Amino acid sequence: MALLEVERLTKFYGDSRALSDVTFKIKKGQFVAVIGPSGSGKTTLIRCINRLIDASDGSIRYDKEDILALKGAALRHARAKIGMIFQHYNLVYRLTVIENVLHGRLGYKSSIAGVLGMYTEEEKTKAVEVLQLLGLEDYVYRRCDQLSGGQKQRVGIARALVQDPRMILCDEPISSLDPSSAKIIMDYLRRIQKDLGITILVNLHQVDVAKRYAERILGFNAGHLVFDGPPSELNKKRIHEIYGTEAGELIID
Ligand SMILES: Nc1ncnc2c1ncn2[C@@H]1O[C@H](COP(=O)(O)OP(=O)(O)O)[C@@H](O)[C@H]1O
Ligand SMILES: [Mg+2]
Repeated sequence: MALLEVERLTKFYGDSRALSDVTFKIKKGQFVAVIGPSGSGKTTLIRCINRLIDASDGSIRYDKEDILALKGAALRHARAKIGMIFQHYNLVYRLTVIENVLHGRLGYKSSIAGVLGMYTEEEKTKAVEVLQLLGLEDYVYRRCDQLSGGQKQRVGIARALVQDPRMILCDEPISSLDPSSAKIIMDYLRRIQKDLGITILVNLHQVDVAKRYAERILGFNAGHLVFDGPPSELNKKRIHEIYGTEAGELIID
């Protein structure tokens, strides 16, 4: 049974087409990497799934719901079940780690409770547990502007996890990190998938990282899905179809 079903998804920005007729399904618990050159539509795909932008055509079903038709409270509820992780973390830096993590609960609250920072004991306990899981137990009350990039991204993951998501969408989560912090983040994503059964869809710039972590890879070129298969099928020829022949040997591990 598919958790996410994307069918003939098309997105125009004005006259220019960012996604063309994209169709794929993702099963619950899969670890899927999305690769492709800059401008190929990776971010647009994630933003359509989470309804940060509206698709132009096609359909997206998530957990049996027609995402593109949802409005108001139903949309808020569906989005609460999808975690998001960003390249630049999207934290509020003057706030503490735990305050940022608790922001992940906002989708479940009235706006008044959210504005007043009213969280239940259960929510606070859960936030601390999640921070422990990510090795941040010593940073609970630290302001986020005092953290390293890798720690900031772990806060981003913690914020996604307190949402109790079935799926986490990650938009280039390691592009601002050095290689060792990047490995730590990817290892946490893998652990979240394996131990918690959460589906991971991650946009990546690095083909070698995608091959190492993902059980399935989606390759985009100019808004078209041109590859959908396991890492073992991603040979030189297929990489050239995704990145273009001028990509050369540099991107191949
Ligand atoms: N807000 C926007 N307005 C107009 N064009 C956009 C906007 N966002 C992205 N695009 C265009 O859509 C295409 C896909 O972009 P994007 O999804 O950001 O690709 P990627 O994440 O793979 O780099 C690109 O041609 C980009 O210039
Ligand atoms: Mg992008």
